[in-house]
Amino acid sequence: MPQAVRFLPVDRVLTAPELLYDLLRERERETWISTTGLPSYEEHVAFVTSKPYRYWYLLFAGEVPVGELHATELNEIGLSIFKRHQGQHYGSQAIRHFIDMHAPLPPITSKRNRHWLANIGVENTGSKAFFASLGFRPLQETWVFEKDNYNEHYRYTSGLPEPHRGQPGATHAPVDPVSGGDV
Ligand SMILES: CC(C)(COP(=O)(O)OP(=O)(O)OC[C@H]1O[C@@H](n2cnc3c(N)ncnc32)[C@H](O)[C@@H]1OP(=O)(O)O)[C@@H](O)C(=O)NCCC(=O)NCCS
Repeated sequence: MPQAVRFLPVDRVLTAPELLYDLLRERERETWISTTGLPSYEEHVAFVTSKPYRYWYLLFAGEVPVGELHATELNEIGLSIFKRHQGQHYGSQAIRHFIDMHAPLPPITSKRNRHWLANIGVENTGSKAFFASLGFRPLQETWVFEKDNYNEHYRYTSGLPEPHRGQPGATHAPVDPVSGGDV
């Protein structure tokens, strides 16, 4: 039986920015979704102090920090456990406790689901297994349009010059997006 996980709000822990940065530094490529990579420490501190989440907790086993859990205004839950503490049921305990103690916000048409959600990178198979073990099920796939990659893809699949005006390698003059005329 693992030690009970304690929840401490991030803004009540003096060392929270350092602990959260250590967690970020450990994260593998497949776990990044909305961020492009590790921010600078200054960027990170600005993010933490901006109170970006509805709830944000550091998780402790006794006095030992084991991870963090946050939830957004869109009812999305995120969770990171330090590598050295993974596989000891701290994550599952934390999610169960969080869900028992907090209700999701009411639905907003086309914007917010009425249930708790977890966003998981497609290659993050460990995390998928983790959330499945807690009763979560896949709901949607989010596809991203990365313009630079698209241009590569277009060149590769069509064999034609890349068609976007104003982009590197464009064959036309740039166009004003509002008037449609040349800029
Ligand atoms: C995913 C994560 C939160 C799991 O936390 P954890 O404390 O290690 O998980 P638990 O020990 O509570 O695991 C509970 C169950 O989940 C499943 N599970 C957890 N990690 C798993 C993995 N890497 N592969 C397969 N199954 C896994 C198992 O069924 C496990 O039960 P078992 O130990 O009885 O087999 C943790 O590995 C982590 O922080 N990963 C990096 C960040 C991340 O991916 N976060 C999720 C996106 S928000």
